[in-house]
Amino acid sequence: MKALVLSGGSGTRLRPFSYSMPKQLIPIANKPVLEYVLEDVKALGVTEIGIIVGSWAPQIEEAIGDGSRLGVRVTYIPQDAPLGLAHCVTLAKPFLGDDDFVMYLGDNMLPEGTADIAGEFRAGRPAAQIVVHKVADPRALGVAELDTEGRVTRLVEKPEEPKSDLALIGVYFFTSEIHRAVASISPSARGELEITDAIQWLLDDGAEIKASEYQGYWKDTGRTDDVLECNRYLLGSLRPAVLGECDDASRLIGEVRIEAGARVVRSRIEGPAVVGAGSVVEDSHIGPDTAIGQGCTLRDTRIRDSIVLDGATISGVPGIQGSIIGRNATVGAGAHVDTYHRLVVGDHTRIEVAA
Ligand code: G1P
Repeated sequence: MKALVLSGGSGTRLRPFSYSMPKQLIPIANKPVLEYVLEDVKALGVTEIGIIVGSWAPQIEEAIGDGSRLGVRVTYIPQDAPLGLAHCVTLAKPFLGDDDFVMYLGDNMLPEGTADIAGEFRAGRPAAQIVVHKVADPRALGVAELDTEGRVTRLVEKPEEPKSDLALIGVYFFTSEIHRAVASISPSARGELEITDAIQWLLDDGAEIKASEYQGYWKDTGRTDDVLECNRYLLGSLRPAVLGECDDASRLIGEVRIEAGARVVRSRIEGPAVVGAGSVVEDSHIGPDTAIGQGCTLRDTRIRDSIVLDGATISGVPGIQGSIIGRNATVGAGAHVDTYHRLVVGDHTRIEVAA
């Protein structure tokens, strides 16, 4: 079995971050989303991975390389325009050949893994085995309708009135039958070749389509609030360790991880929280639910329920929460600023200040 990981797409819902980086590289608990995806694929015993990349190809290739660091072999497949998930399958045909494959959306997190479902697919080899999950409101997702025996009877992409609460959550297992389907469908109203429509085409053609319910935690990390929620969830299984330095005047409470080369001085770190390699934290109160990336500097600052990306500097800010601070950003009290704020803010940034 091979894998096809989709990592194109523009990530408009993750602006402003997606102006400067691919959404699949947003770190959650200090690891890019795409790495979690590749690790899950590897856990299925699949090491031949094609990654569909769009305009962010250089950054993705720099982060993941040939995959050897993660124990997999990566082939990059360029996609010039985001023309849909089924279009990605068409582009990947030379890489996939006639092999069975798992298709995994590079921004979907299924931390409990899909090994059981892969086992079911390998045993029965239906034309498609989809992974579904109960969600309260599936109107923004693909929705599966099942009969009383659990067989898929219909799939609808983003229905206004969903007939079921089972959403497609970004992982699909296929035999080579899918190639006929993706070649036969037409673009949807949003102008994309939908994988949901391709699977429906197989159903109409009489193929066997199975659904397996994933019971664990799932998140499409498409929006900032989803990223923060997922960060809280993953920090919950953090392995505590102090690999860097922590002085006697500091207190670490609960599950805290201080990476190598990080320095914590006169500070209180409340877990779950991680301080990335080479970061400096002084006279600050960090956490809970906070991930500080690599090479950051935090001074005289109180921050909780937040993600700070690599190289950011925060100083003299008494209360930050529910925040994501971008790479090399600077947030701080200014020498010439009193009751007014001074903001140098990029497009589509969101700032909320205390009234
Ligand atoms: C895509 C699929 C949809 C699926 C979702 C999961 O939607 O088209 O069926 O439920 O991923 O994240 P999109 O993110 O392209 O809107």
